[in-house]
Formats: sequence, C-alpha cells, structure tokens
Amino acid sequence: MSELLSLAKAYEGYFKIGAAISPWSIPKNRELLMQHFNSITPENQMKYELTEPEEGKFTFEEADKIVALAREMGIKVRAHAPVWHSQTGPWMYKDGDKPASPELIYERIDAHSKAICEHFNDDVYAWDVVNEATLDNLPEGGAGINGNTIYRESEYFKLTGTGFIEAAFRSMDKYSPNAQLFYNDYNECQPDKRDRIVALIRNLQLKGIRIDGFGMQQHYFMAPNYDELKKSIETYAGLGLRLHITELDVSMMALANPGEQRIRPGEPGFEEYMRDAMNPSPEKLQKISDIYEKLFEIYRSYRDVIDCVTTWGAADDITWLDFFGQDRNAPRIKQHPLLFDENHDPKPCVYQMIEAVK
Ligand code: GLA
Repeated sequence: MSELLSLAKAYEGYFKIGAAISPWSIPKNRELLMQHFNSITPENQMKYELTEPEEGKFTFEEADKIVALAREMGIKVRAHAPVWHSQTGPWMYKDGDKPASPELIYERIDAHSKAICEHFNDDVYAWDVVNEATLDNLPEGGAGINGNTIYRESEYFKLTGTGFIEAAFRSMDKYSPNAQLFYNDYNECQPDKRDRIVALIRNLQLKGIRIDGFGMQQHYFMAPNYDELKKSIETYAGLGLRLHITELDVSMMALANPGEQRIRPGEPGFEEYMRDAMNPSPEKLQKISDIYEKLFEIYRSYRDVIDCVTTWGAADDITWLDFFGQDRNAPRIKQHPLLFDENHDPKPCVYQMIEAVK
C-alpha cells in the first residue's frame, strides 16, 4: 500500500478511526497504527482490575504505555471502561464481611475517578464511564429486583440500584470537565435492548447528569441488520448525544450465525457454528470485507452525529475473537474480523472506503 495512503487521513472530514490495543501488541502494531489510525483505546488497561487491583492501590504503568504511544502519534486516548460489572476486584462490593453500603460504593467510585482523571488528565478525550449496565433479556417472570426490566442485575445494581451509574457520571464530570463522557453497550441495535439503553440514558438526563455520548460497540456475531442500525443511530442521536462506534469487529461467526443473537459456548448449534467459522474460504473473507463497506457507507451518512469509529483490535493477527468461547488449550479459530489482515495488509474494503471519500 502506498505510504501516502491513510485511512485516518482520508476520513479527517468524517470521523476518527480508532483501534483497541494492549501494551504487548504495540511493537507489532506500531507502524500500522501510525499510518491508519488517529484514536487508540486500551483494551483492558484502564479497567478497575488493572488500575486499582486493591482498594487505594493504584497501578497505571500498563495504561501509561498506551498513553505514551498516543503522545508519540500526536493524538489522545479514547479511554475505556472503569465502571463495569466485569474486571473489577471483589473489594468494591464488600465492607469487611458485610456487603458495601451504597454510600461506600459511591465513595470508592469517586476516589477512583479522581485518581484516574488526575493521572490521565488531558491525554484522554473521551471516557466510557459506565459499560454494559442494561439487561440482555427480561428476567424469568418478566421483571427482576423491585420490578426491574432495564438494568443488568450486577453486584453494583444489587447494592445501589441505579445509584452507581449516576455516581460514576457525577464523579467523572467533576474531575474530568474537558473529556466527553460516554455510556457504552453491546447488542445496541436490538430493539428491546435499545429501549433499555434509551431508558438508562434518559434517567441520567432527567436527573441533570452530564452524559455527552453513547458508545455503540458493534461487535458482529451475526449478520448486521442495516435497517436497525440506522434506526438505532437515529434513536441515540435523537437523545442529543454524540455517537462513537467503539468496538467494531465482523467475525467469521457473523457469517455462520443464522440468527439475531450471539451464539454462546454450550448453546445449541455452537459446535457447527464454530466448525463453519473454521473454514475461511476467499468468498467468506470477501463477505466480511463487503459487510465493512456497507457499515462504513452507513456511518458516513451519519457523519454529523458520529465522531469516531474504533475497531476492537488493529489487524487480524491479534484479536480477542480468536479465543472466543474456547477452552484455553483448544486451538485458536481465526475469525478475520478487522480491516487489516494478518500481514497488516488492507482488506479490499479499506481501498473502497478511501475511494468513497475522495
Ligand atoms: C466487551 C468490553 C471490552 C472487552 C470486550 C472483549 O465488549 O466492553 O472491554 O472486554 O468485551 O474483549
């Protein structure tokens, strides 16, 4: 590919082009990132587990490696995802032998927010403040705790109701007045889940809490429903929010899945699905590229509300999906889910995407 060709440069009038990365993948990805991307996101390094493994013990060394790369690239970081039901130490939810009170959880979130904002400061332009706090499906019987039909019944929710979400946004607003604050979630184009996400966002807005944007994860484990994608972009933008595509990938699994839900390990059809994903014929790889072309055509048509499109990884040699649903020792099943192949060569869609904005 010509040295002058750059996806991020081509899209300067549209939106940022981002990639999620890990410190250990920097040496392999450095050149590709420098050429084609102008936003980076730490895949794990800004989560609680890595930044505050024990209460009050902050460790930023790993995240700092990503910040250092961003500085070298002359860009800022899209930071992800402190308050989340996953990858958070058990200390968050306990007070000695007892469950933590809501007030204690809010204090802990506040102390953490202060520490991360002071540390990362102006190197971050946007934060996924809260991640994945809505229900995938209704609980058995139609409603959960206190009639809940919206929120994931995580430890956070069990202990504080919606209080932890509000506390997280309030604290980040206080300590990071210049960064944009996002709520981030997946399956965000499925109508029922979309309604729940809208309810969560409206609750914050009604309470006068600052939320600047919604992060549409866009992990494709099934074929995209382009009409629902457009409807979702319009719905979320209609709430007055900026939109980021935050974790885009289109895997082999997306081609093999006939349904509308992700097929998880152990569920009917999973084995066949994985076997199918194991056979990456040129036609199938072309289909992934074609899906990207269509997705980007839609993202471009909403350039007035979309500010950044981040893929969850930079190139097919390093992607979380190769391990997905697998026993640690099982052979990897390559998923080919990104814009650049295992050799870091652009897929056909990258040339088309650049052509489309000339
Ligand atoms: C979710 C999270 C990400 C990451 C991916 C899997 O989508 O938001 O932080 O953990 O799962 O890699």
